Amino acid sequence: MTDLNADIESLLTENRSFLPPPEFVRQANVNDPLIYEQADANFEEYWSNWATQLDWFKKWNETLDWNPPFAKWFINGKLNVSYNCLDRHLQSGRRNKAALIWEGEPGDWKVYTFGDLHREVCRFANGLKSLGVKKGDRITMYMPMIPELTIAMLACARIGAPHSIVFGGFSSESLRDRINDCGSKILITADGGYRRGQIIPLKKNSDEALEATPSIEKSIVVKRIGEKAKVQMKPDRDIWWDDLVRDAPYTFEAEHMDSEDMLFVLYTSGTTGKPKGVVHTTGGYLTGVYATTKWVFDLKDDDVYWCTADIGWITGHSYIVYGPLANGATTVMYEGSPDFPDKDRFWDIIEKYRCTILYTAPTAIRACMRWGEEYPAKHDLSSLRLLGTVGEPINPEAWIWYHTNIGGSRCPIVDTWWQTETGSILITPLAGLTTTIPGSATKPFPGIRAEVWDANGNPVSPGNGGYLVLTRPWPSMIRTIYGDNERFKEQYWTKYPNTYFTGDGAKIDENGYIWVLGRVDDVINVAGHRISTMEVESALVDHSSVAEAASIGRSDSLKGQAVVSFVILKDAISSSKILEDELKAHVTKKIGAIARPDKIFFTADLPKTRSGKIMRRLLRDIAEGHVLGDTTTLADASAIELLKDQYEDAE
Ligand code: WT7
Repeated sequence: MTDLNADIESLLTENRSFLPPPEFVRQANVNDPLIYEQADANFEEYWSNWATQLDWFKKWNETLDWNPPFAKWFINGKLNVSYNCLDRHLQSGRRNKAALIWEGEPGDWKVYTFGDLHREVCRFANGLKSLGVKKGDRITMYMPMIPELTIAMLACARIGAPHSIVFGGFSSESLRDRINDCGSKILITADGGYRRGQIIPLKKNSDEALEATPSIEKSIVVKRIGEKAKVQMKPDRDIWWDDLVRDAPYTFEAEHMDSEDMLFVLYTSGTTGKPKGVVHTTGGYLTGVYATTKWVFDLKDDDVYWCTADIGWITGHSYIVYGPLANGATTVMYEGSPDFPDKDRFWDIIEKYRCTILYTAPTAIRACMRWGEEYPAKHDLSSLRLLGTVGEPINPEAWIWYHTNIGGSRCPIVDTWWQTETGSILITPLAGLTTTIPGSATKPFPGIRAEVWDANGNPVSPGNGGYLVLTRPWPSMIRTIYGDNERFKEQYWTKYPNTYFTGDGAKIDENGYIWVLGRVDDVINVAGHRISTMEVESALVDHSSVAEAASIGRSDSLKGQAVVSFVILKDAISSSKILEDELKAHVTKKIGAIARPDKIFFTADLPKTRSGKIMRRLLRDIAEGHVLGDTTTLADASAIELLKDQYEDAE
């Protein structure tokens, strides 16, 4: 924990605090501080009160069955997520309200009312059914940020076919592995997507992936690009989306799903090379995202809510699609990049649709900071009333910039901590109640117990660092890792008995505020995206020139962390700039551009313990220019000094 304590030092100096603005408090969805005690005193009743706000075909008869580490919530309850996101709003007078406002990167845009979205979801569900899709079948999506992605998710939920969404930036090999892990029957993709004016060849990548995916029967292709994409449709396998839905009926009865039926699986990087399929189920997940969207974002009926994430990540699942739509809110979805055609694209979108709530990532805020405040200054951002951040710790400087330049010093900021596994936000301010301090995610959401423990499982005293743990089950928690209960237990529940270990280090201060410091395992966080050092290492050793590789995350002022790899080449292979570029391209091809190392350093030796374990901690010290930490466990302590000198000479 030596590294953590260094970070704590700098955080402890942050003393600016921001009270909830009185005009915000007056109108807030939650402004009674007693809620924390009430929720904590009887958390099952508290969560069941939330669940009651959803529409159930059949009510549950027991709130929680906790058999650690396996939880079941709202036992024997029956409901449908698509029904809760659509049908119930048609009955409550929102048929003609905007549900989805979509903005394409080239500047095209489209608004779907709840009535429109319901119709298109039903048509597509009928299309899927005509291909033989039924409850329980898995469906993979590899799509751009277009309305058909949201429609496909809700159609899957309507049938009860769990979806598995693979971020469009992943490679064909990553897509193939994720399809094979969950045995998907159908792939939904597009002829391409737009990113900074370029076309992303999703169909071409899909074709490569589908060469080795025996479970796939059909692939549905959305026409996003047209002629220019030059795609080849494979007869008997590929079907155009438009052809599939052309004559499909406008209605489709929502399947009655059990509360514990799987809603989706979403792959995320773990500490080993193989991504984990995080399983979320129906009733608990929907309750968690419904509740947190309503309270954390203070969501009202006339809000225009925009979360800038990609739906390929959990943030998009929970806070573009399911949370907002379960609340009957208007949600904005943007296809492209924040700097296309210019660096004011975000601010233009806010002005154009008069967005009231913005949820984005520290890395995006830091990029905007770098581009300059003249870009937001060109736009009327007065519609905004609440700002949020997620994905990585936010540095106080970025927080203050966001508050001043985007929030007009008027909007509260919610710094929300959670994970793919937690399903919904667990540590966050509530804008009508919590005094915020830049850099702290503050307190657990009502009903959640988050603590900071030392290695022996004792809570640390205020001001100290330790491991962030969750000591009580919550409705939207991960149920298992797809097909691997053992790995699920091992990953999250063995460090401390019956306690969920987050993999994060954190500090708790005198006010009980939590300061999340970042991962303490072999996972790195690049621009808010989780990457496993082991995954990058296996991609590197897969190259014919590489004998051994070690990767680490080095602090990066823009991305939070950047990948740096140390590579030992095979005998007779010599290092070169060309080889460095080739290895970077190899990682992109194997995993995707997000995992591409920023720097590759060729070395003859790697620091290892006597038992042969690579000491990545020391490599991080070298890459960050720190004094080397404890080297007493090294097998050969002299080599490390040499490596450090060589690295510094090369910088
Ligand atoms: C990891 C989870 C769920 C949101 C997107 C990332 C880091 C997330 C914060 C925050 C500090 C944060 C943690 C966590 N993280 N939010 N507000 N402050 N760190 O989801 O890919 O599952 O990654 O992101 O390290 O463990 P994910």
